[in-house]
Amino acid sequence: MAGEQKIVAAFDAAAESYDAWTEVQSAVARALVARAAADFARAPKTVLDIGAGTGHVTGFARANWSQAHIAALDAAPHMLARLKAKFPDVETIQADAAAYSGAARYDLILSSMALHWLADPVAALARWRGLLAPGGELHVAVPVQGSLQEWRSFLHKAGLEDSLWPFPASFPGAELAAFPARFDSALAFARSLKKSGAHTGAPGGRPLPAPALRKALAAHSGPFDVTFQVAFIRLEAASPRPPAR
Ligand SMILES: C[S@@+](CC[C@H](N)C(=O)[O-])C[C@H]1O[C@@H](n2cnc3c(N)ncnc32)[C@H](O)[C@@H]1O
Repeated sequence: MAGEQKIVAAFDAAAESYDAWTEVQSAVARALVARAAADFARAPKTVLDIGAGTGHVTGFARANWSQAHIAALDAAPHMLARLKAKFPDVETIQADAAAYSGAARYDLILSSMALHWLADPVAALARWRGLLAPGGELHVAVPVQGSLQEWRSFLHKAGLEDSLWPFPASFPGAELAAFPARFDSALAFARSLKKSGAHTGAPGGRPLPAPALRKALAAHSGPFDVTFQVAFIRLEAASPRPPAR
């Protein structure tokens, strides 16, 4: 299975458990929509949520802009089915976010915790920007380098090589914010990766040896804290070229 298909298959398989294990993703989605609402002066007529998953961003967007036509795009069919069950009025688009080029243009495009799963995040941002209507805005939240450092340290201390999917360096002009999350135990954090579908390992990385990991998790007592370092990116629609003379 190709890298992208593996990633999407992992999320798809986690569609039923995703909501219960993604408190921090929900907090990031809320912050993203609050930023977009503070920034975008008018009421958007059309909103697109890219990498929508089960709809954390879509839900906050619906609450903010009840009059808008909202579309949610994701490559994972079961994630979209969960979203549709919660928000039947939302249009769903099953597509690859890295290659999507539909005809519709949107006043507001939002994306949370999805961009880093794409092979070329910078190219994806340019493509998404091209989907904006004139005067439109693209707001993206993406975890960047420094995220989940606590988990990496935990594994290194146990003599294990971490196999986390790599986070990109930050993006020019982005604002950074830390989102801490507390889990009941290191085991609960490890489980959250699986239950949220975010356990696909780095390309070329080796899977963690199960017995050594189990031993390290069992040896850890008390809660386990992790932090997502999240970059908030804001891009405007490109201004139309002046007519050639
Ligand atoms: C961590 S989840 C984030 C979901 C949601 N935005 C949230 O904040 O909870 C990442 C989502 O990106 C989707 N995804 C990953 N790669 C994708 C791709 N190439 N095209 C479309 N969706 C993709 C996954 O299926 C998953 O639903």
